[in-house]
Amino acid sequence: MRVFVTGASGWIGSAVVPELIGAGHHVLGLARSDASAATVTAAGAEVLRGDLADQDALRAGAAGADAVVHLAFVHDFSRFEASIRTDAQAIETLGAALEGSGKPLVIASGTPAVPGGTATERDGAAPGSPAAGREANARAALAMAAHGVRSSVVRLPRTVHGEGDGGFVARLVAIARDRGVAGYVGDGAGRWPAVHVGDAAHLFRLAVERAPAGSVLHAVADEGVPVREIAGVIGRHLHLPTASVPAEEFGFLGGILAVDQPASSTLTRESFGWEPHRPGLLDDLEQGHYFA
Ligand SMILES: NC(=O)c1ccc[n+]([C@@H]2O[C@H](COP(=O)([O-])OP(=O)(O)OC[C@H]3O[C@@H](n4cnc5c(N)ncnc54)[C@H](OP(=O)(O)O)[C@@H]3O)[C@@H](O)[C@H]2O)c1
Repeated sequence: MRVFVTGASGWIGSAVVPELIGAGHHVLGLARSDASAATVTAAGAEVLRGDLADQDALRAGAAGADAVVHLAFVHDFSRFEASIRTDAQAIETLGAALEGSGKPLVIASGTPAVPGGTATERDGAAPGSPAAGREANARAALAMAAHGVRSSVVRLPRTVHGEGDGGFVARLVAIARDRGVAGYVGDGAGRWPAVHVGDAAHLFRLAVERAPAGSVLHAVADEGVPVREIAGVIGRHLHLPTASVPAEEFGFLGGILAVDQPASSTLTRESFGWEPHRPGLLDDLEQGHYFA
C-alpha cells in the first residue's frame, strides 16, 4: 500500500515508518521543515512538505494514498484547546479525502482513565476530563466508518517508551535531575499504562492492514505501572532519594501523575493477534539509556 503518514518525523512516526516499509508498504510522510523532511527521507520514505493546518497538503497526501496514518499533533500543552481544534480539522480533511473509498484512516489517541477501573477498548474518556477533546476527535474519525472510510483509532498509553524517547518519562528524569529528588505525587500508587515504541508501531501496521471500520485498539503492554516504582528506578539510576513531592513541581505532568489510569489490551490482542514482546517500562528504564 501507499501510506500517507502525518507526524512521520516524530517519536512514534519514526518507528511506524520503518515498520510499514519493512512490511513492503510505500510511505509518504508529511514534513513541515527541512529537518523533519531529512528525518523522513532518512527513514526511507517520500516527503510531502506541509503543515498540519495546511488543508490542501493534507487533502493531496490522502487523495493519492491507499491508507492514511495520522500521528501529527501540536504538543503545546499551554494551548491544548487550539491543538485539539487543529487535530479535529486535520481529521475532517483526511477523512473527507477518503470518503467512499473503503481505505483505512488510522489515527492516534490516548487511553482514557476509568475511575476505579481498568480502561478497555469499549470505555471512553469522561466528559470534561483532559482527554475528552481527543476523545471527541477520535469519535469523529470513527463516525467516518459510516461514510465509506475504514477508520480506526489506536489509543496509546501514558508512556510510549524506548531508546530516544523525549516524552513523559524523559521529562520525569529531567525533573528529578533538576530537583535532586525522584518524585511521585501523593502515595505514588497511581498507575500508568505503557508500551514500547516498537510494539506500538507494529499495532499501527496491523490497524492499517486489517482493522475493520470503526475499531478502537489499545497499544498497551504494561496495564499499569505504579508511578512510585517508576520514580524508584529513576532515583536509583540517578543516585537520588525517591519521595512524594507536590504535584505543582511537575508542571502539567502533575495532574497526569496523580491519576490512577490503568488500561488493558485484551480485546486488541484477541482481535488482532498483537503480542508486545519488547521490554516493559521498568525493564526498559533499567537498561540505562534514559540516564545516559
Ligand atoms: N509518545 C507518547 O507517549 C504518546 C502517548 C499518547 C498519545 N500519543 C499521541 O501519538 C501521536 C504521536 O506522538 P509522538 O510521541 O510521536 O509525538 P512527537 O514526537 O511530538 O511528534 C509529533 C509529530 O507531529 C508533527 N507535527 C507537530 N506539529 C505539526 C504541525 N503544525 N504541522 C505538521 N506536523 C506537525 C511533528 O513534526 P516535527 O518533526 O516537524 O516536529 C512530529 O512529526 C500524537 O497524537 C500523540 O499525542 C503519544
